[in-house]
Amino acid sequence: MDRPEYVRNTALINWVESMVELCKPDAVHWCDGSQEEYDALCNQLVETGTFIRLNPAKRPNSFLARSDPSDVARVEDRTFICSISKTDAGPTNNWVAPKEMKETLHQLFDGCMRGRTMYVIPFSMGPLGSPIAHVGVELSDSPYVVTNMRIMTRMGKAVYDVLGADGEFIPCVHSVGMPLEPGQQDVPWPCNKDQKYIVHFPEERSIWSYGSGYGGNALLGKKCFALRIASVMARDEGWLAEHMLILGVENPQGEKTYIAAAFPSACGKTNFAMLIPPAAFDGWKVTTIGDDIAWIKPGTDGKLYAINPEAGYFGVAPGTSFDTNPNAMESIRANTIFTNVALTDDGDVWWEGMTKTPPAHLIDWHGNDWTPDAGRPSSHPNARFTAPAGQNPVIDPAWENPAGVPIKAFIFGGRRSTTVPLVYQAFNWMYGVYMAATMGSETTAAAVGAVGNVRRDPFAMLPFCGYHMAEYFNHWLQFGRTIPNPPRIFGVNWFRKDANGKFLWPGFGENMRILKWVVDRANGQAVGIESPIGWMPRYRDIDWKGLDFSEERFAELMSVDRDQWMNEIVQHEELFIKLYDRLPKELLSIRDLIISSLWRAPEHWEFWAD
Ligand code: GTP
Ligand code: SPV
Ligand code: MN
Repeated sequence: MDRPEYVRNTALINWVESMVELCKPDAVHWCDGSQEEYDALCNQLVETGTFIRLNPAKRPNSFLARSDPSDVARVEDRTFICSISKTDAGPTNNWVAPKEMKETLHQLFDGCMRGRTMYVIPFSMGPLGSPIAHVGVELSDSPYVVTNMRIMTRMGKAVYDVLGADGEFIPCVHSVGMPLEPGQQDVPWPCNKDQKYIVHFPEERSIWSYGSGYGGNALLGKKCFALRIASVMARDEGWLAEHMLILGVENPQGEKTYIAAAFPSACGKTNFAMLIPPAAFDGWKVTTIGDDIAWIKPGTDGKLYAINPEAGYFGVAPGTSFDTNPNAMESIRANTIFTNVALTDDGDVWWEGMTKTPPAHLIDWHGNDWTPDAGRPSSHPNARFTAPAGQNPVIDPAWENPAGVPIKAFIFGGRRSTTVPLVYQAFNWMYGVYMAATMGSETTAAAVGAVGNVRRDPFAMLPFCGYHMAEYFNHWLQFGRTIPNPPRIFGVNWFRKDANGKFLWPGFGENMRILKWVVDRANGQAVGIESPIGWMPRYRDIDWKGLDFSEERFAELMSVDRDQWMNEIVQHEELFIKLYDRLPKELLSIRDLIISSLWRAPEHWEFWAD
């Protein structure tokens, strides 16, 4: 396909030419982002067996893809930050010298698209032409990636108008790493089982991804650009690129408060961003700006303004139901791509937790027959849906406002069965940065590896920070000093368990009760009392209407146990020692203050017990 005449950007044209020369695709397709193009690609994917068209009566214009069983999640151990100096990448990132990595990549990419088409995918992260938005161009040999990118980003022809003849873009190259010999039959999910490389060059701001077709490994606008590369841009330019949802809370008086919250992968961002308040919360409304990534810039008025750089949701399917997240269920009614979920006999999708009783028969994510007694899940735990954000019934009217929305509070929360209380507020910005920096979480299926171990996941950014993590802490500290009234910072934990291993907190819609306290605190309208680790609500400070939740249970959920916390602080210390060369030393002082408070407080701290 010839290059369309509206592509005028010289740097882009030259770069595509050089990449064609290297990757040697059979054809080049310049994506225009139109519906016709999308439909044609979907039909093509159906013909080649990558997509199964779902029953149009049940799930219009929607498809199911089953990945190769070896290609189901982000590969953190194959993700590299190739800064010129190793220390700039820091001890939490994999690093290889750029020169050496480029040699490796040039060998891998040489001829890697033989037998395939190279798609040129122009996209904008953020509303087209917005001063906060940034443009990228992904070259990929995966039509599955093209269809997903069209949902997840503003993709197509209009991006070239923004780019003009000399506008800047982030070059992103992606290959599934499986060239086809003449006559070789393709497989439904091409990938490279032996070699995977997800590589970032922060100084030249470029991305190379090889060997995987799944999620954050392949949809390069998302984690690679909007977090890893953008975090570097944000540090250099004085803003924030964060693994955060953004939501709006409207109270019965019609006052709106915007909040951003960072939870690690598969720890409840999508659920929280689409929360439906309990029936008793008459007049309260929650609206979604974004469910995964926030770009936050200071305004001239001293407030922080956030945009969602994405245009769709790449959400965890298992556990999503009309009980847990009705708005997500509405968002995926049509025009959705499902990956690694089960297929029902009537051509619809199902996954664990979607309904209480599973269907009597399914085709599982491997393509095999499945019955409820199979003894294995029908969907992969990291199965996902790709759905347009505009289909969310509670999308915020300002979600595409190029100016962004003002953020009043930040929430940080991990998945912790013990130790960490349901909610607490940091005493000030520095304590808040400490809280976020030392956050721990039990690992989930969103990344390949062992699931359920507690690891430190600072700011929920451990897999996504494009530079030295300690320098990132320092950027946050400094950022708070440059604004007159920085947002309040809160910690939450929906996942604390009792002695029998049962969740102490009902979660989901009931999280509104905690969100209300957070919003009221941020607006200076709720009581908090001083615990050893931060401000906390007493039982009577939470709105319990419509829920029978005992004071004893609340006490258990909120308790601060000295032994557990001392153990916790030893874990913080391990992280600090790892990052010591660039660690802002304020954090060590905060640590000492927390240790002192814990020693002065009762061994098992429960304020409301007296
Ligand atoms: P990424 O897209 O991976 O960044 O994750 P996310 O943070 O958007 O995750 P998501 O909202 O999809 O979380 C999915 C998992 O969290 C499912 O297993 C849910 O059941 C669980 N979850 C979400 N909210 C709650 C809650 O309030 N309580 C409990 N117990 N589980 C929850
Ligand atoms: C995450 O793992 O945090 C995700 C999914 O949001 S992926 O895009 O695959 O990284
Ligand atoms: Mn995420």
